[in-house]
Amino acid sequence: MKKKIYIAGCGGMLGEAFYTQFRNDYELKCTDKDVNEDWLSFLDFRDLDAYKKDVEEFQPDFLFHLGAYTDLEFCEEHADDTYNTNTLAVENAVYIANQLNIPVLYISTAGIFDGKKQFYDDWDQPSPIGVYARAKYMAERFVVENAGRYLVCRAGWMMGSGPKKDKKFIQKLMKQLKDGKRELFIVNDKDGTPTYTHDFAKNVKALLEKEYWGLYNMVCGGQTSRFEVAKELIDLLGLKDDVKLTAVSSEYFKKEFFAQRPANERLLNRKLDLRNINLMQDWKVALKYYLQNYYSDYLS
Ligand SMILES: NC(=O)c1ccc[n+]([C@@H]2O[C@H](COP(=O)([O-])OP(=O)(O)OC[C@H]3O[C@@H](n4cnc5c(N)ncnc54)[C@H](OP(=O)(O)O)[C@@H]3O)[C@@H](O)[C@H]2O)c1
Repeated sequence: MKKKIYIAGCGGMLGEAFYTQFRNDYELKCTDKDVNEDWLSFLDFRDLDAYKKDVEEFQPDFLFHLGAYTDLEFCEEHADDTYNTNTLAVENAVYIANQLNIPVLYISTAGIFDGKKQFYDDWDQPSPIGVYARAKYMAERFVVENAGRYLVCRAGWMMGSGPKKDKKFIQKLMKQLKDGKRELFIVNDKDGTPTYTHDFAKNVKALLEKEYWGLYNMVCGGQTSRFEVAKELIDLLGLKDDVKLTAVSSEYFKKEFFAQRPANERLLNRKLDLRNINLMQDWKVALKYYLQNYYSDYLS
């Protein structure tokens, strides 16, 4: 008989990859407050009673808590709502998982570091600098300190799910290109590591199957910057001669993106490497796959 996984907050970019990567080998119940697929049902995970009831009825072997607010500007302006959604709801997940004596998965972020170091491994001390990052880090700590068995996996700059659900950097650039823009302004003062949602979901699956519980950095291979990612994207699309990339500092976007972000959020997957279970592809390879799988006719 297949093992069962309850996935909360599964309607977003990462949820699409988890649904795809897990659905053949596990029996899934996927929920979200935004019911945007026929395989989703409604649950607002801030409601502890409703969350508990829904999970208990399904009797899963694992509880995956994926959802969060991911718009940093929204989080800055709605701090209480953000702590309710990104921190207290994760506490809810831990209570429920502990009561059912099952492992819980929580998705943390590279953004919990302050950017003063060049690289961060799994054991570096986080020091969050904005509401989103603080809320995510407080949830991470709650899981680590209170869950019976857990996986906490830290993602970097997420890319996945294509035009339908990608709310982040790659889709923002693809949208501008689709709208006919031939000059893109890209920050040259932000370093980090992209994370392809499907590689991330596959690596979580591998950890789960080995029962290697704990906290892991989980980003694509290689170290890069926003500017270099944009350059690679343009190269891969064959638009090198048609599109000009203009480097600007973060100051340029400060009205639109006013939430503070670390200058550097480059993670090292040290623990995955040491356990010999690092399945994360190099970011350039992953970006190529991503474009092939989700954007093959987007610009035509
Ligand atoms: N995107 C990144 O670059 C990134 C990087 C590192 C870590 N992460 C983490 O990865 C996880 C998945 O993020 P994602 O990129 O897939 O984000 P996403 O595309 O915004 O998906 C998150 C989903 O969670 C849902 N959600 C929010 N509040 C909820 C609630 N109270 N009850 C039920 N569902 C709720 C959202 O619904 P609404 O759309 O209606 O709000 C959305 O469908 C998050 O924990 C995020 O913090 C993301």
